[in-house]
Amino acid sequence: MISLNVNGKKYKVDVPDDVMLLWVLRDHLKLTGTKYSCGIGECGSCTVHINGKAERSCTISVGQVKGKKITTIEGLPDSHPVKKAWVQEQVPQCGYCQPGVIMQVAALISQKPAPTADQIISKMDDVICRCGTYLRIKKGIQTAVQLTRREVKK
Ligand code: FES
Ligand code: FES
Repeated sequence: MISLNVNGKKYKVDVPDDVMLLWVLRDHLKLTGTKYSCGIGECGSCTVHINGKAERSCTISVGQVKGKKITTIEGLPDSHPVKKAWVQEQVPQCGYCQPGVIMQVAALISQKPAPTADQIISKMDDVICRCGTYLRIKKGIQTAVQLTRREVKK
């Protein structure tokens, strides 16, 4: 039995240590916002936060995240600047890759000192969107950075 802390809740799951976190999130905890795509750590669709850092849940086992704080797209509040920016800029097309993209941007935006939009965009090279929404992802990042700065000034 493995104890996990996901989105602030404690769970116990009866799986071997070497099962990938993605499958536990989706199949056991029914948190299906985290998507399976390449399965080899290349595309970013399965990105979640582990202790605040963006990680690819298709290549990290549950045994590696015991005792760590896991956040999925479901745990990111709707008021988060990245989610707000994604709605404002209508970033998604089919939407499949976007939970992972949002989680990657949200982790980068929370770094200290606060990165610029260009610094975040330069770290998004390994994200794959089959719909090719890259220009809108870029716009979404710029808007998310502006919204974050406004919140910090409040
Ligand atoms: S499904 Fe995990 S990186 Fe592609
Ligand atoms: S929006 Fe369709 S794969 Fe990215």
